[in-house]
Amino acid sequence: MVSTLPSLPHVPGTDPSSCILDAFRTAIAKRLSDRLPQLTLEQAYTGVDYGKKGVDFTVALPRFRLPGKPDELAKQVLADFQPDDFISSISHDKQFLHFQLNNASLIREVLNQIHTLTYDSPSGKPSYGTNTSGAGKKIVIEFSSPNIAKSFHVGHLRSTIIGAFLVNLYKACGWDVTSLNYLGDWGTQFGMIASGFEKYGSQEELSKDAIKHLYNVYVQVSKDAEIDPNVKADAAKWFKRMEDGDESALANWREWREMSVKKYIEEYDRLNVSFDRYTGESEVGKEWQDKALERLEEMGLVSDANGAKLVDLEKWKLGKAVLRKADGTSIYLTRDIGGAIERWEKYQFDKMIYVVASQQDLHLAQFFKMLKLMEFPWADRLEHVNYGMVLGMSTRKGTAVFLDQIIKEASSVMHEQMKRNEEKYSSIEDPETVSREVGITGIKIQDMAAKRINNYTFNWDRMLSFEGDTGPYLQYAHVRLVSMERKNPELVPLPHPSQIDTSSLAESSHARDIAILLGSYPDVVKTALKTHEPSGVVTFAFRLAHAISSAWETLVVKGESDLEKARARLWLYICARDVLGASMRLLSIRPLERM
Ligand code: ARG
Repeated sequence: MVSTLPSLPHVPGTDPSSCILDAFRTAIAKRLSDRLPQLTLEQAYTGVDYGKKGVDFTVALPRFRLPGKPDELAKQVLADFQPDDFISSISHDKQFLHFQLNNASLIREVLNQIHTLTYDSPSGKPSYGTNTSGAGKKIVIEFSSPNIAKSFHVGHLRSTIIGAFLVNLYKACGWDVTSLNYLGDWGTQFGMIASGFEKYGSQEELSKDAIKHLYNVYVQVSKDAEIDPNVKADAAKWFKRMEDGDESALANWREWREMSVKKYIEEYDRLNVSFDRYTGESEVGKEWQDKALERLEEMGLVSDANGAKLVDLEKWKLGKAVLRKADGTSIYLTRDIGGAIERWEKYQFDKMIYVVASQQDLHLAQFFKMLKLMEFPWADRLEHVNYGMVLGMSTRKGTAVFLDQIIKEASSVMHEQMKRNEEKYSSIEDPETVSREVGITGIKIQDMAAKRINNYTFNWDRMLSFEGDTGPYLQYAHVRLVSMERKNPELVPLPHPSQIDTSSLAESSHARDIAILLGSYPDVVKTALKTHEPSGVVTFAFRLAHAISSAWETLVVKGESDLEKARARLWLYICARDVLGASMRLLSIRPLERM
């Protein structure tokens, strides 16, 4: 459906065919630049911002640094204004100009665009909210990256949640995305397990749950190591053999890794997360680690400390870091340097993101710096997306160390919650699945609700409540929207949008509020790409859910005798459903149809 709005000049960087608010902003900018001759259309456009509280768009005149008093400038813009298809009114308040959009065309155009890009998209896939700013660009996103044989802690869970969001986000902006899980599958802990496996290992336990069993073995050997120094020495020897490529030392390790990955894939799948590739520290070749060390040595940055190699980054306030142990085995830092170089050779990325906790800020800054010192021209394409800590994460049985415990706990807390409403509970077809999905939504929303860098306290009751801005509330809002078609069978299927008269909606401030929010979704996606913050998308989803919930009472569908009105309202709810669903999917949440 082609827009029926009058044509406007094109502002570079805007695309009204994917973001209809761009057209409205252009119209405002045009009014400004027509009336203020020193101002170009593009300059004017950059000054058009969302307004506060009930104001659609606001322009702060001083930002243009034009000669003349703001008052005079404002008068020039206001002089003999006539409402048109874009703007219904302009008001003036000190140095600000406030613009109200033409409700009738706003609502019609927003709904048309959502409909077209959802059901009639040129790409064949629903694309409302997406853009093509990343077309032709390649990004590698590394996230989650747990350590085999150690616990999958909430830090890894955060990386998983934020990383999955970034993958969706970059795809939505047209990038070619490769997602990597960089497993901690190498290091002396495997020497420990190998030496402890004979004593504590069981093939049966291993095939039941490799992740848990290896962890248990590791915990047990570590206890032995506390009393017996030989354990650690044995482990180090074993790991040295692995590093030297001794097949007999590698065979078990390979099996453990494979079985752990299998189990991880299942658990990630529950979270609606997947990876293009499972790589890991073990896969980083020795060659580049050696070359990197050589290069840094040539630059005079490396010193010897009892046989270990130390790199001095004090000059950049990044401390000193060990690059190689005295026994010649590699370490985490060196593997990251080698790994980055290998990834460059393999992917030739335009950008590579590491989603890692802020506790590792120094580690990432160190290896980014070393890559820059080595003068790799792509070194400034690396970016660390960090996040704060999660406090107080425990299950009712104690501290959670495994991902599946966290998921199970969320499901069961949610399940109990749902059972409290007996009538509703009995109508749910598959309460197990529903409670798990809602539980996972609760975890994800709690995690993404605030800025990444903030710490937060894990709180089962709060995150799984139906009250407040929680995951369950959001799922409920979506389910209610989905039920609209089912509850109004006489209205569906709706006629083609061109046959729906939306003019009645223009009189409702509720409809207008919903429409402008829906229209802002493409902007929400673009902003998220700049900030790498999922919280903006979460905020959007809740604002939309709230706007819809305040509309239910006045914008009724069932019982509305005027067929035109009923249809227009149903259409509004359907568009809201589709956009709310899209925003949830962007956050890696599976929107439910019933609950
Ligand atoms: N496995 C590491 C940990 O659990 C995280 C890996 C982060 N990624 C990286 N390239 N260093 O601490």
